[in-house]
Amino acid sequence: TILTLDFGSQYTHLITRRLRELNVYSEMLPCTQKLADLDWKPAGIILSGGPYSVYEEGAPHADPAYFELGVPILGICYGLQEIAYRAHSENVIAGTAREYGHADLKAKRVDGHVDRLFKGLEDEMKVWMSHGDKLAKLPEGFHVIATTQNSEYAGIAHKTKPIYGIQLHPEVTHTPDGTKILENFAVGICGAKQNWTMAKFVDQEIARIRKLVGEKGQVLGAVSGGVDSTVAAKLMHEAIGDRFHAVLVDNGVMRLNECEQVKQTLSDHLGINLIVAHAGQQFLDGLKGIQDPEQKRKFIGGKFIDVFEEEAKKIEEAAAHSEKAGKIEWFLQGTLYPDVIESISFKGPSATIKTHHNVGGLPKRMTEGQGLKLIEPLRELFKDEVRELGRQLGIAHDLVMRHPFPGPGIAIRVLGEVTPERVEMARKADHIFISMIREAGLYDKIGQAFAALDPSRAVGVMGDKRVYENIVLLRAVETTDFMTANPYPFENSFLTKVATRIINEVHGVCRVAYDYTSKPPGTIELE
Ligand code: XMP
Repeated sequence: TILTLDFGSQYTHLITRRLRELNVYSEMLPCTQKLADLDWKPAGIILSGGPYSVYEEGAPHADPAYFELGVPILGICYGLQEIAYRAHSENVIAGTAREYGHADLKAKRVDGHVDRLFKGLEDEMKVWMSHGDKLAKLPEGFHVIATTQNSEYAGIAHKTKPIYGIQLHPEVTHTPDGTKILENFAVGICGAKQNWTMAKFVDQEIARIRKLVGEKGQVLGAVSGGVDSTVAAKLMHEAIGDRFHAVLVDNGVMRLNECEQVKQTLSDHLGINLIVAHAGQQFLDGLKGIQDPEQKRKFIGGKFIDVFEEEAKKIEEAAAHSEKAGKIEWFLQGTLYPDVIESISFKGPSATIKTHHNVGGLPKRMTEGQGLKLIEPLRELFKDEVRELGRQLGIAHDLVMRHPFPGPGIAIRVLGEVTPERVEMARKADHIFISMIREAGLYDKIGQAFAALDPSRAVGVMGDKRVYENIVLLRAVETTDFMTANPYPFENSFLTKVATRIINEVHGVCRVAYDYTSKPPGTIELE
């Protein structure tokens, strides 16, 4: 196992992700982790980047005991500076020229060889840098293994001990050879085994959940039918069976037959202990008269919590009478790594670490107010890894590859006021669009697709009669991270067929338009 100490860089998780891609198991712990409190010995240690300056008061530093352990150490960016600063406080200074973005790295040859860290690579490579501070001096006992135009000490290594420091970020895709550098360190230098697989993750996570929850502990969680909550729920079910209680809230703005399908999949196929709260009417009643997107989101979020809490109370009451199981103390959340807004930050001179996470709009007052503790088994994973995990758990391909669907559902896909009739039109149009995308074999090529309804009406002529009806907007995007997106380039003939079917089959619609806006400046959803 490689230990990655997180100094708070936004890329730290990418280090563990790259190592997982190499089938090397790695654990990421906060940089304040003391060696004495660790009950395993790492094969090697990576010190991550971070937003601080090592010489600042209150800046984080690694437990010196790691440097006495004798295992290889690789410092990345801040990690490099930490290694140099430990040797002498004057070794690190604020750089005059900051280096952000691409740089050409030159591996230095000693006796005709590049360092083992760069084994198998060209002497010159494109790398990605992001730093303001730099080494002013080479720490004693070290030599230079790589340079860039701006950094005389872009890579350093101890002359006799396996301690390395690099200024570049090997974990980002902008450093094309970065994975090889990490492989050279983890496998070549540390001798880590390449035997980690998603199946092992499942076993480890199940064992961790069982230990955390105990023999009788019970867990509550919300499911939506989406990939993340389904995978998280299935994992919980594997770990503790019916002591995991899933709640699906039917908010009246789900897609065609969705509630029934989700129920079938989760309950009948996956065996998850599921309660469905049919609250559609309450949501639709409350949405009456609301025009503003933010207000819609607020209302739906708030109502969701009310309904969820009501169900939770019932489950808790039932649980209180059970002899086999104890109180509900845990709350499952399918948070993924990209939802983790800020991994670690330091507060004041006491250097206390606080972990921030996105609670996905879910009941803070349930977790904080009622003392439910969070379980987030997907917290370290990226979307594609969650999909792989889903496959590993036997979840069907169609579900694993499902496009994301927003919590506020069709309510933010009906522009302006939401009425049951408008939801119905958007729902039918969406169903036609998505079915045709599937039939054309395009579903897995598209990041997200849906139909929305614009109730500002347009004039048309149908059956020789003038009509004045709603407009359907089709949206489909290609994206990897949902932060940026481009419109999917459908063939015209495909869109024409979709438009014809929607107008023929969805009463109240006389126009269909395709949204060609990229994100930015647009967003994926229309509201
Ligand atoms: P935008 O519209 O911000 O969407 O470009 C990016 C991604 O986030 C989804 N989205 C939401 N998901 N609750 C959710 O669970 C929401 O309120 C919400 N708003 C947007 C959107 O579908 C897309 O995948």
